Amino acid sequence: MHERPIKKIVIVGSGYMGGGMAQCFILAGYECAIADIDKETAHAAKVRLVHEARAYELDGLFELGSADLIEHRLVPADSIEDAVADADYIAEVVSENLAAKEQVFGRISAVARVDTVITSNTSAIPISVLAEFVVNPERFLGAHWMNPAPFVPCVEVIPIEQTSESVTAGVEHLLQSLGKVTTRVSDVAGFVANRLQFALFQESMRMVDEGSATPELIDEVVRNSFGFRLPFFGPFAGADMAGLDVYVGAYESLSKAYGERYAVPASLVERVKSGNLGLKSGGGFTGMDTLQREEIALYRNRAYAALAKLREEIGPPPGRD
Ligand SMILES: NC(=O)c1ccc[n+]([C@@H]2O[C@H](COP(=O)([O-])OP(=O)(O)OC[C@H]3O[C@@H](n4cnc5c(N)ncnc54)[C@H](O)[C@@H]3O)[C@@H](O)[C@H]2O)c1
Repeated sequence: MHERPIKKIVIVGSGYMGGGMAQCFILAGYECAIADIDKETAHAAKVRLVHEARAYELDGLFELGSADLIEHRLVPADSIEDAVADADYIAEVVSENLAAKEQVFGRISAVARVDTVITSNTSAIPISVLAEFVVNPERFLGAHWMNPAPFVPCVEVIPIEQTSESVTAGVEHLLQSLGKVTTRVSDVAGFVANRLQFALFQESMRMVDEGSATPELIDEVVRNSFGFRLPFFGPFAGADMAGLDVYVGAYESLSKAYGERYAVPASLVERVKSGNLGLKSGGGFTGMDTLQREEIALYRNRAYAALAKLREEIGPPPGRD
């Protein structure tokens, strides 16, 4: 499909996420309008976003002049229809509610050009479900930003079967021009980030509900244990470094206690049976080379020491010690 260069961005849903996204687009030099349930809400959102940008400037989080730029260039629209009529790129960022999204995609589809790129910021609704509400779904895909939008690098990019490859590549290029790290992920409920995040939260709630831990205790342990390592090593790098045989052993105790949901994954057992234990023998998930063990340990230790220092410098979140 033929696309025009993306110049004018419209964010539909100017709340927490949509507002942060609008700040990013303006600061990267794009034209950007925000629309919401009514014009008063969109105008109030602009006031909030300028005010917030001034505070970010004072805190050194945004460059000087950012708030003025947002004040001069961010356009609060009178209606969704007004905003999207001449848009090149529309981000749907309304509440996580299927009926609201259906209504909004219907309004967008009725007015926007047929080649306007449309994305959804849904947290967990499969994009193929939302595609039912979009006219010409070849220009439709998920672009799931993380909270808070200006400061967290990842945007999950979620094309569906109908999405044209050139549209997906164009969206990746656009988001990368804002400094975002884009990762293409499959269209499964919750995508990657929320499927994992909610699995962790599910088990955390279970511990709280059964009385074996408090929310404060869980937060403390996570932040200071595997959560501390996550900025550098994801779950698979972590498993490779710990040793896959160690994981199989731990699963045996966990599945005895908690049953099927902790059953040791068959493919993990296979890997261990073939002598592929991760960093200690090779053949792990991440291809870490056993010859680089010392180098990796040195990097790891430096990274953790630097992170410990940074945490000390920044201190605990207010209300925690
Ligand atoms: N909050 C997060 O941490 C987070 C992170 C990533 C993705 N998301 C997703 O982003 C989307 C927005 O979340 P949020 O946290 O910004 O919510 P929010 O409540 O802050 O903002 C939602 C906005 O949508 C507007 N809205 C609701 N129904 C509408 C309609 N029918 N027409 C026009 N505007 C409408 C509301 O007035 C509000 O301004 C959701 O899909 C959410 O799951 C949220």
